[in-house]
Amino acid sequence: MSGVFHLVYFSKAAEDLSYTDIREILEVSRRNNARLGITGLLIFRDGFFLQLLEGAEDAVRKVLSAIRDDDRNYSVKVLIETNGDERLFGEWSMAFHDGDITTASTEHLVDLFESVTSSELSRRALIMPILKKFRASAPELR
Ligand SMILES: Cc1cc2nc3c(=O)[nH]c(=O)nc-3n(C[C@H](O)[C@H](O)[C@H](O)COP(=O)(O)O)c2cc1C
Repeated sequence: MSGVFHLVYFSKAAEDLSYTDIREILEVSRRNNARLGITGLLIFRDGFFLQLLEGAEDAVRKVLSAIRDDDRNYSVKVLIETNGDERLFGEWSMAFHDGDITTASTEHLVDLFESVTSSELSRRALIMPILKKFRASAPELR
């Protein structure tokens, strides 16, 4: 079985970010990620992004570096870097969950965004199970 590299980061959205910007980010991400063999989930809530990128480590790091240079977000903080056996979002070149519009997952979102401030050691144990719950709520993803 070939492994997959998972990276989760958290960032602050630019103050003037619009839904048009988010649509553009998703469009370009889906095109690039399909080419690079990257899958994942982008969550937006209350002016913050949390994103899971999964794929080959070099491809994931390349995309992360583009995101760090992208002024539509700033203060990029990597929360998790880990190797796993399988992709969580293998069906999506980039799934999107809008936490400001979809209320069904509010509880997961609160847990998720609170875990950002937890210690490096406990983050993985906290965050990965919550991301799996988002996968289970696929109809809410766009
Ligand atoms: C929050 C956020 C998430 C992003 N996610 C991705 C992504 O998953 N894949 C990607 O290729 N670009 C992503 N981008 C866009 C990159 O920063 C960059 O604009 C893009 O990769 C450039 O692609 P291009 O060279 O094809 O124009 C993201 C940007 C932001 C602000």
